[in-house]
Amino acid sequence: MLRGRIISTGSYVPENVITNRDIEKIVDTSDEWITERTGIRERRSVNGDQASSDLAFEAANSALKRANLKPKDIDLIIVATITGDMPFPSTACFLQSRLGAKNAAAFDINATCSGFIYGLHVANGLIKSGLHKRILLAGAESLTKVTDWQDRATCILFGDGAGAVIIEATTEKRGIYSTHIHSDGNLSDLISLPGGGSRYPSSRETILKRLHYIKMKGNETFKVAVRTLEQLAEKTLEDNKLNPSQLSLLIPHQANLRIIQATAKRLKLPMEKVFVNIEKYGNTSAASIAIALDEAVRAGRINDGDYILLEAFGGGLTWASSLIRW
Ligand code: ACO
Repeated sequence: MLRGRIISTGSYVPENVITNRDIEKIVDTSDEWITERTGIRERRSVNGDQASSDLAFEAANSALKRANLKPKDIDLIIVATITGDMPFPSTACFLQSRLGAKNAAAFDINATCSGFIYGLHVANGLIKSGLHKRILLAGAESLTKVTDWQDRATCILFGDGAGAVIIEATTEKRGIYSTHIHSDGNLSDLISLPGGGSRYPSSRETILKRLHYIKMKGNETFKVAVRTLEQLAEKTLEDNKLNPSQLSLLIPHQANLRIIQATAKRLKLPMEKVFVNIEKYGNTSAASIAIALDEAVRAGRINDGDYILLEAFGGGLTWASSLIRW
């Protein structure tokens, strides 16, 4: 059976660190509140002249190098992002140009924090169908550029970074075993960035109303996220005929440590089997699972034959999971 397999990973985070103490100086909050309510201690932020394709470029280069491949060996580039360099061209096209990946087609996916798993879904489908053989998938975000630094409810959450994987066709008994993707557009008002599109084109008024920044109803989102992710994790294991005890690692989207702990508890997974790096990077949306996966690989926490569960939840609303046999 033909399926996609992740043969290599890479990640990159910008050097600038913003700690909770730094944010205490900007809005009425405290290190204690942020740590307790979210698990986040610090996050990274891009420089003024850095954009998401620059982060994706670094992550992609690492993944290519580790796979011993050249950019010309890639036949498709997909970038999952909600903070593309520009509304168009796609960030994937900018990345293709930076890499010199002249044999690749390139496009973006917008599924907020679920974007990386949506990307796996698309990439795996294209490989199974025989349309593509080797795909570069990146999740890249510069969220600090669309964060409202006057809104304490959201500015504590987000960070910047990128992760990338190379997915190749295989007939081996390993690779991407399943992807589940879901959406509920009826709840689009829970998380959005309203300004700058065709609904509210950028204008003096949209700037004054701060519509060019992320808006989130955090508490409502939290409740839906916990319920949805618990059910999704169980369903994914069930569809793959696996027990939670057979999982080697759960790599969740890093939005809130309490959401991550709730899913682990529901699956009765000890936290040693859950990859967490939220304390260092905060919520990096589509980049978060890609960065975590790369860090888990480099830390030796994933071995051949391991079952890995990925899951994410985000604006849209969207939610998604993937079961991978490494
Ligand atoms: N510092 C101090 N107090 C704060 C802060 C802060 N930074 N932010 C909010 N508060 C206050 C509120 O004003 C409120 O005060 P009140 O009780 O006097 O009204 C109180 O803390 C509780 O606020 P809640 O919003 O209920 O806090 P909650 O425990 O829900 O935590 C958080 C907020 C961290 C945002 C949480 O709701 C969360 O993580 N939500 C889910 C986020 C998520 O998963 N998003 C999806 C992905 S994002 C994407 O797609 C781009």
